[in-house]
Amino acid sequence: MNYISVQNVTFQYDEQNQDAKPVLDQISLEVKKGEFVAVLGHNGSGKSTVAKHLNAMLIPTSGKVLIDGMDTADEKLTFDIRRKVGLVLQNPDNQLVASIVEEDVAFGPENLGIPSDEIRERVDEALKAVDMYDHRKNAPHKLSGGQKQRVAIAGIIAMRPDCIVLDEPTAMLDPKGRQEVLDTILKLNRENGITIVMITHYMEEAVLADRVFVLDNGRMLTQGKPDEVFSQVELLKKHRLDVPQATELCHKLRSWGVAIKKLPLSEEACVSLLKEVLG
Ligand SMILES: Nc1ncnc2c1ncn2[C@@H]1O[C@H](COP(=O)(O)OP(=O)(O)O)[C@@H](O)[C@H]1O
Ligand SMILES: [Mg+2]
Repeated sequence: MNYISVQNVTFQYDEQNQDAKPVLDQISLEVKKGEFVAVLGHNGSGKSTVAKHLNAMLIPTSGKVLIDGMDTADEKLTFDIRRKVGLVLQNPDNQLVASIVEEDVAFGPENLGIPSDEIRERVDEALKAVDMYDHRKNAPHKLSGGQKQRVAIAGIIAMRPDCIVLDEPTAMLDPKGRQEVLDTILKLNRENGITIVMITHYMEEAVLADRVFVLDNGRMLTQGKPDEVFSQVELLKKHRLDVPQATELCHKLRSWGVAIKKLPLSEEACVSLLKEVLG
């Protein structure tokens, strides 16, 4: 069964202004339990608006969003939905509230009314999962960007969600911080079975997902496995979206007559393919 089901969702921030072009226009997407999906798109294409629909911060103007079968439009279910789907935002500074790392991570479960010995257990477990346990007594503001974002993720994990939605979690980080956060996300998906929806504008991150959704101007431009999506080089370029460098290089070689059957997504795949083709 689909864990997340977004069905024909249209959304307008200003519902009075019916004539305005909707921010989301008939968007549908499905995510299975345990999947890792990426959502790509330009600034303003509606990615954050989609993210906010997944934990009932926004409700569709028309269409439906179901989380584990629960309709986000049903106010009685809002609390349960927010426990199941945690949202991590772009800027870690806006998400850290306490002056000590472990207190910050405890904040979410405290608000859920979890007993204190269980909170202790959850906080330790969450900090270990993001590899920040050794920093548990530190002050969040002294951490690097990547470390702060991992603490923010730990704060979500401590609420034991089924699914984490991350809205451009690496956008404000340096390459090292980006890699740390990405490794953490992959580990949570593969080892802890947490369903992941990651919004990003880095192609190199999107190729790691099981499936990719591409938004353009509030509409779903294309979706599929990374190789299916990124092999549509012309379509993506037409909409001013990039493809991974390795894919683009081989696409160009192919247009010059080099016999390339399947476009590669990574540098490694590109190198071995070119060795094969060019002998
Ligand atoms: N709170 C808001 N009120 C009105 N318009 C908004 C609001 N938030 C976003 N928008 C508009 O909705 C569109 C999509 O924004 P957003 O979902 O933030 O896109 P993305 O995350 O892909 O950059 C943009 O045109 C943006 O200006
Ligand atoms: Mg955004």
